[in-house]
Amino acid sequence: MGRRTMIRRLAGQAWMIARSFAAARRGRGVARTARLALYEVLFDLRHGTDTSMEPPGRATAHEGTNPLLFAEILRHAGFAADGRALVDFGAGKGRALMLAAEHGFGTAIGVESSPELCAIATANIARYGRRRPGALSVTCADAASFEVPPEVTVAYLFNPFGADTMRAVVDRIRESLDRAPREFHVVYLNPRHAGPFLGAGFIVEHRRPDALLLRRPR
Ligand SMILES: C[S@@+](CC[C@H](N)C(=O)[O-])C[C@H]1O[C@@H](n2cnc3c(N)ncnc32)[C@H](O)[C@@H]1O
Repeated sequence: MGRRTMIRRLAGQAWMIARSFAAARRGRGVARTARLALYEVLFDLRHGTDTSMEPPGRATAHEGTNPLLFAEILRHAGFAADGRALVDFGAGKGRALMLAAEHGFGTAIGVESSPELCAIATANIARYGRRRPGALSVTCADAASFEVPPEVTVAYLFNPFGADTMRAVVDRIRESLDRAPREFHVVYLNPRHAGPFLGAGFIVEHRRPDALLLRRPR
């Protein structure tokens, strides 16, 4: 690992931990915050990947899903991962794709608009895949124009973009469901723009302050 990469990773992790403890003061509790921080740091150490947060001021704003949160939220999903195909809209450095593989999804496709983050995600997946083969991939594209393949039954979003892009993404999902009717699930973390999903016939299956699970019946 190069010195610049090492410095960037350490800066990202220090920033994430400082931010987490600031959040703890706002009510999360120190024990919970420490646990989340531990899961955050251990992911890259376990897998030899670089999925840490980008420090502020960088053009590529990125924050990976916390592995503990991912596990907690999936427990409330009304479906089993069991070999399903998932798309992560706004895949960043690919952490959620690797978490999806860990939790039993058969295929995880990332869509990411930043070429720099796409390159990092691709390298991460290659490193991760050496030990755990799985169908993980990243497409460098604008999520607004990504055509959702018919085998995909779960969309994953970690507050990746604003209302306009979200409306376009929901249109792409609707088009895919029109072409190949099927039940479809959405796992949405920090759900700031859920309106387009509700307008497209999705129903809320589970709600917590930091996540929304939605489903559209066949
Ligand atoms: C919070 S990060 C999520 C990282 C990843 N999903 C995870 O959970 O580990 C959001 C990502 O969405 C990407 N993004 C923002 N707008 C996008 C768009 N229109 N198309 C594709 N990706 C986009 C950003 O570059 C950023 O990497």
